[in-house]
Amino acid sequence: MKICRAKDYNDMSRKAANIISAQIILKPNCVLGLATGSTPIGTYKQLVEWYEKGDLDFSEVMTVNLDEYKGLTRENPQSYYYFMNEHLFGKVNIDKHRTFLPDGTEPDSATACENYNEILRAVGEPDLQLLGLGHNGHIGFNEPGEIFSTETHCIDLSEQTIKANARFFETEAEVPRQAYTMGIKTIMSARRILLVVSGEDKADIVKTAFFGPITPQVPASILQLHRNVTLVADEAALSKF
Ligand code: GLP
Repeated sequence: MKICRAKDYNDMSRKAANIISAQIILKPNCVLGLATGSTPIGTYKQLVEWYEKGDLDFSEVMTVNLDEYKGLTRENPQSYYYFMNEHLFGKVNIDKHRTFLPDGTEPDSATACENYNEILRAVGEPDLQLLGLGHNGHIGFNEPGEIFSTETHCIDLSEQTIKANARFFETEAEVPRQAYTMGIKTIMSARRILLVVSGEDKADIVKTAFFGPITPQVPASILQLHRNVTLVADEAALSKF
């Protein structure tokens, strides 16, 4: 694992955006695996700025997102579909037909997961998969459990994740209890993984996940086995080792 130390959140965002933009420049028709959450927002903002300056072209890029809340419509500002439009897709020249997320409005979990797996198979392995890190070590919405998951599945969100994500909703009761997420095997199939982590509140989990044992109780720990992972984290997130 390559560790890229950033001074602060802005520096982390710029460094991560640099890696993504290099990917797009080197392979204009690349497949990007994308993430949501608060951490990558600065990265997307930087990519949009470079696009506006004429330095980046998204016209041939294809994207697959990690996850989506089950039950939220695309118009719901808390849905990840909405998030991606708000922070990236709506602001660059990407072809919306080349952007994919699990369908949160599909009530039948088996159908939703099967459909997304089919899309992922057709699109092929991401050239670069962007990831954030949950406080409990989740990646995408792969929560701590007994086994590492394989493909897209419907997950019951943990109490910790519901509480952590409640900040985006009016009340905790509004946080969906389930989500569709890409599986660990699919995430691990990406050619390159770019993990962004910021803040002192993530320092413990960074240490546990990347310097502790590999266990499904800490899903991100599996990344220790990937051949090409870059962790871009700020000083605060790296403060425990
Ligand atoms: C969310 C998302 C993850 C994200 C994580 C951390 O629940 N499903 O993809 O990486 O939690 O979020 P944040 O960056 O806001 O701390």
